[in-house]
Amino acid sequence: MIIDGEEKYVMTVIMAAGKGTRMKSEKSKLVHKIYDKELVKRVAELASKVGSDEIVTVVGHLREEVEEVLGDSVKYAYQDELLGTGHAVMQATKYLEGKKGKVVILYGDVPIIRKETLENLIIKSFKNKEYATLLTAIYDNPTGYGRIIRDEGGNIKAIVEEKDANMYEKEIKEINSGIYCFDIEELLSALKDIKPNNAQGEYYLTDVIKIMNDKGLKTGAVIVEDNTEILGVNDRAQLELLTRVLRMRINAEHMRRGVTIEDASSTYIHDNVIIGVDTVIHPNTTIKNGVIIGSNCEIGPNAYIREGCLIGNDVKIGNCVELKKVKIGNRTKVPHFIYLGDTEIGEDCNVGCGTITCNYDGVNKNKTIIGDRAFIGSNVNLVAPVTLGDDVLIAAGSTITEDVPSNNMGIARERQTNKPYKKK
Ligand code: UD1
Ligand code: CA
Repeated sequence: MIIDGEEKYVMTVIMAAGKGTRMKSEKSKLVHKIYDKELVKRVAELASKVGSDEIVTVVGHLREEVEEVLGDSVKYAYQDELLGTGHAVMQATKYLEGKKGKVVILYGDVPIIRKETLENLIIKSFKNKEYATLLTAIYDNPTGYGRIIRDEGGNIKAIVEEKDANMYEKEIKEINSGIYCFDIEELLSALKDIKPNNAQGEYYLTDVIKIMNDKGLKTGAVIVEDNTEILGVNDRAQLELLTRVLRMRINAEHMRRGVTIEDASSTYIHDNVIIGVDTVIHPNTTIKNGVIIGSNCEIGPNAYIREGCLIGNDVKIGNCVELKKVKIGNRTKVPHFIYLGDTEIGEDCNVGCGTITCNYDGVNKNKTIIGDRAFIGSNVNLVAPVTLGDDVLIAAGSTITEDVPSNNMGIARERQTNKPYKKK
């Protein structure tokens, strides 16, 4: 990380050894997903986005599942017995020793902190030369959280856990999010001094704050602006809540950039989606990770735009349309009840109602290529691999198995016969 033109070392330690009993799951809590992405993967990606030089994940319970998700994008430390957050960080000591710089502590089950918030915490920690910088929040109901103890001057003195707090301390509304940025050398030194002599018999990472204060080392805090950022996932209801919070955050960002969303509560735009200005998104639309949509398009209702789609400008994607790995040229209309997969389609085309690409033969996914100005009649099956040229017409009800050259009409259906019939 570059701070004031100087290269600074930042490590992130992700605590991911917990059991997650309240999820009532056979799987590790940390591999449950928000918008197709595992909680712990969201946290690891955040750590890497803020410029961590190294990421260490402390795993324990169902560690193989976490390791499978993160692979070699991080290093691992092991915590076999859950003896507290301080104990968890101690397991990462071998990676911290000999390093000069900062270590950021994150939880594997607190997945929707904004990158800007974390950057802010790290930068403040370096600039103010703080040995510990805490991310705190003001809660109307602080029950269950560690409370931030400040002196009359507002300086942070300690963190007291709910179970160890006296009646005055329990009144404090400033809480510890559990996310910190520490000076590596002073953290290592303070960790040696923490003892499990508290109500829970645990090694509290939070005790480090008082230890640093007693040594006269400067500490500080950043109060998070949006309390939803530090929400964690302990059960399925919280998983749903966080998905909702993230959904509204992403939708708000697209609206801010000039996209009309008719009903933000039923619009599911995953991460890293780009949408041009004046595009209108109708209700019950899902747009998956990394999709790119141009400007002035109309999408939905009930559209399902999956990964790998690249959609031009002035395109209409109507109701009950599913697209997967589809490239669509400008002004093309894909209006209703259509499935296109592994398809490239040019400009100014019209795809009739009920058209599907038969892109999967049971073994392989095959491509459909369609030129410009194609008119595909209703209820057409395009059996891939197949290529249609420019200015083609495909007759309604055709099952197209052969390529259709430019300026040709493809028709592939039984000829109609009428037989005498009398209503009984
Ligand atoms: C901790 C803080 C508390 C803060 C709260 C915010 C301590 C002592 N207290 O509370 O001040 O308000 O977080 O949520 O740090 N974990 C491990 N190994 C362990 C213990 C925990 O990996 O031995 C992981 C958990 O899986 C979880 C995170 O650390 O992801 C926090 O643990 P949790 O028990 O939820 O927090 P508290 O200790 O209650
Ligand atoms: Ca059909």
